Amino acid sequence: MPASRRDFIRALGAIALGSVSDAGADVAAAGAQGCGAGDSLFIPRDRGFLGRLALDERTLALRAAPISGAAAPQGLSQAYLASVDRRDYVNPTLVLRAGQRVRIDLVNGIAEPTIVHWHGLAVDTRNDGGGSVVARPGEHYGYDFTLRNRGSLYWYHPHPHGLTAGQAYRGMFGLVEISDDDEDRLRAALDLAPGTSEIPLVLRDRRAGSEYAPSEADRMHGFLGDRALVNETDCAQLDVRTRIYRFRVLNASNARTYLLGWRTADGKPFPFTLIGNDGGLLAAPRTCRDAFIASAERLDILLDLSDLGVGDTLTLETRSFDPMHMEMPASAATPPVDHAAMGHGVPGAAGGGAGSGERAAAGPGAADPHAGHAGHGGSFPEGSPRALLALRVREKTSYGARIPARLSSLASIDVAQATERPLRLGFAKGRWRINDRVFAMGETPIEVRRNSVEVWLIRNYFNSMPHAMHLHGFAFEVLERQTSPDAVAALKIDDRGRLATDLGRKDTVLVWPGESVRIALDFACPFPGDQTYMFHCHNLEHEDGGMMLGVKVS
Ligand code: C2O
Ligand code: CU
Ligand code: CU
Repeated sequence: MPASRRDFIRALGAIALGSVSDAGADVAAAGAQGCGAGDSLFIPRDRGFLGRLALDERTLALRAAPISGAAAPQGLSQAYLASVDRRDYVNPTLVLRAGQRVRIDLVNGIAEPTIVHWHGLAVDTRNDGGGSVVARPGEHYGYDFTLRNRGSLYWYHPHPHGLTAGQAYRGMFGLVEISDDDEDRLRAALDLAPGTSEIPLVLRDRRAGSEYAPSEADRMHGFLGDRALVNETDCAQLDVRTRIYRFRVLNASNARTYLLGWRTADGKPFPFTLIGNDGGLLAAPRTCRDAFIASAERLDILLDLSDLGVGDTLTLETRSFDPMHMEMPASAATPPVDHAAMGHGVPGAAGGGAGSGERAAAGPGAADPHAGHAGHGGSFPEGSPRALLALRVREKTSYGARIPARLSSLASIDVAQATERPLRLGFAKGRWRINDRVFAMGETPIEVRRNSVEVWLIRNYFNSMPHAMHLHGFAFEVLERQTSPDAVAALKIDDRGRLATDLGRKDTVLVWPGESVRIALDFACPFPGDQTYMFHCHNLEHEDGGMMLGVKVS
């Protein structure tokens, strides 16, 4: 049953602001508690969970299966299993080289239809796994493609329409690491080695247990957990030495956006160097204090610990921000509803009965206007601060390497001949929509000429929430952001309103309420015949709810 407008307004208000930090606020004041003596950070090895698996041209059998007991890291209940040369893997990290051929045989060993989508890879429809074809329980699906992407961290996850969010949440996700010459140069220059000085950080927020049972409010906002895990570890510790580390961050959360930054034990922000994002290395490194990362986005960062002393600690945290899950009053005659003051568990929010006005307005039969969403986001609403990972310096080491001034060369997409396509994100009749439409299998409301260049103008209504918009098959260039909310505009690095994290090539871009984002897309397509792809919000509850359109390239 579609939610009523009123339910929607209530749901959106449920985790509205209450702990807004202005851009200049002291990090310590806005920050999270540190990590106590927690578990060691889980680091992928050459087997096991997220184990690094260098694929050659042999076909990899990848089995989607239920897991339990000791085989299930941190209570995951579904995963991708592989076994190669007598090594067993759970959600293997596929270690690949640009240009290589990849052959994978997916076996569906779970009780629902599934399909693997290779997030960010430039492949044809047959290999994209976008969900127009699925493997039913017991069936196989074969992939065979050649890598056309730049080096970067990509990933894979299920994509059966309507079932994606649950399967991903239960544990079906994995990394795809593609190297190329730029990557080789970087690793050589900084003496980086995967597993010791180069470490993936996969962010996921989960609730206790492995059940995925979204409420109406969860479907509206996205399914938020009350624990923030890094590589499935809660508030992990990592022992480090005084050198440069590379952290390759993937936000594999169903819905949560993080504002990532590092701080010292005495609460001072500790800047990091952004070197890449979704689509590979930036042209040049950029120093950042903090950066947003939405569902499916990646950040490639360097952290220089050379000047620290033994015993020093650094904490990776998500900082306080206004999540903007809200609906503004339609007119001055409608008073704004201050849900934050109603005790929804937003840290810093005043408790009390400020909501009585809304309670009355909700009318008879609505004794508890929050019944459907009370406690949404639990003790950890989106935008509230939380420590994620603690680094502890254990050892001094002599390390003289410097970050190269040039990381890659990447030509801009030439938009001189481009046509502009408007795309509006909004909500109507209980559903999040793109251009007022919801997804219909087999329909392709976006039709593109192969080898053409387009500019997409993605506009999010003011009365909305942030949406992490993702296109399959083609990386894009962010051209500009306009009318960004203040917290976003505070991070801009050029007069086009772009953020450091917008540079380079992207496959997912977060569009905030009231914001217009222009992206350039080069639809160069070497595959014969019509190809279809998906364009959708990567808040997986929004995606499953139909905030997705088919795109035909012909
Ligand atoms: Cu991560 Cu449709 O994708
Ligand atoms: Cu994708
Ligand atoms: Cu969305």
